[in-house]
Amino acid sequence: MVRPVLVFLILAVVVSSSSKPTERKSRVHHEEPLSALEHDDQKNFDYDHEAFLGQEEAKTFEQLPPEESQRRLGIIVDKIDTNRDGFVSEEELKAWIRNAQRKHIYDSVEHQWKDFDLNGDGRISWDEYRNVTYGSYLDDPPKEPEYNYTYMMSRDERRFRVADRNGDLIADKQEFTAFLHPEEHEYMKDVVVQETIEDIDKNGDGFIDLKEYIGDMYMSQDGEEEPEWVATERQQFSEFRDKNKDGKMDKEETMDWILPSDYDHAEAEAQHLLHESDANQDGKLSKKEILDKHEVFVGSQVTDFGEALLRHDEF
Ligand SMILES: *[C@@H]1O[C@H](CO)[C@@H](O)[C@H](O)[C@H]1NC(C)=O
Ligand SMILES: *[C@@H]1O[C@H](CO)[C@@H](O)[C@H](O)[C@H]1NC(C)=O
Repeated sequence: MVRPVLVFLILAVVVSSSSKPTERKSRVHHEEPLSALEHDDQKNFDYDHEAFLGQEEAKTFEQLPPEESQRRLGIIVDKIDTNRDGFVSEEELKAWIRNAQRKHIYDSVEHQWKDFDLNGDGRISWDEYRNVTYGSYLDDPPKEPEYNYTYMMSRDERRFRVADRNGDLIADKQEFTAFLHPEEHEYMKDVVVQETIEDIDKNGDGFIDLKEYIGDMYMSQDGEEEPEWVATERQQFSEFRDKNKDGKMDKEETMDWILPSDYDHAEAEAQHLLHESDANQDGKLSKKEILDKHEVFVGSQVTDFGEALLRHDEF
């Protein structure tokens, strides 16, 4: 049996709260960095390579002879140029980088796909998802269930219906990705906020008040002195989260909290790569411009050797 989405959440909560009661649990979704490496083009282009290719692929390129690395870069350029006008625009570059940034998400969806696609038709219906996830519960409901499966199922179905944009209750790969990773998709944000409020809003009034906000991250233990960060959080709530100062967070305020509009790494990197390689400064990149600056985009055995020479001027 595959675990439903909510069980993952519940387990995460249980694990984090049983390990250290005063440890802060975060509901905030931040954008992931493009690479864990330092971005310093004076030293090397390793950061750009990982941002452009993803970590795994960047490693592969480093093993390639320069001609092969450039040949593959040429193929990639054709893929990035999605409107096929012969140029790579900033938007196209950004979309490509965004894709590399989220590759592990696509990989994980790919990995789970065949568990859910029971009839192997390349799409996943709500019935298939429900049967796989809740089948054993539905066939033989336990007397004292550990979780409220009825609630979990209705919540999953609601999320599935939002992810399923054309309303046929069958998810294609994109829709199923949005279902499993809603915080990465603009059109799923409302349902993410709704689920979060439902989790935290103990009195069921549709808002998160200060007590509920703190109660979600901190459970006081008998005799324990309240850690300092709890006081800081109270202050955060009153000063920043509760923008209209009515003592509670509504949907909009909750969205600003859990889905902050972070610095857009993919956009910044697209602008950077464009700036580095746009020789004629027309705001877009030809294949030749990219290949002329191949060392910025992809590595190869020789560029590393070249960088080693640059770094060690004693040679
Ligand atoms: C789901 O399970 C029910 C009951 O076992 C079965 O009748 C139905 O055909 C299944 N649907 C799919 C899509 O597998
Ligand atoms: C489980 O959830 C359903 C749907 O939200 C609700 O109607 C029901 O009362 C809940 N059952 C328990 C035991 O809490």
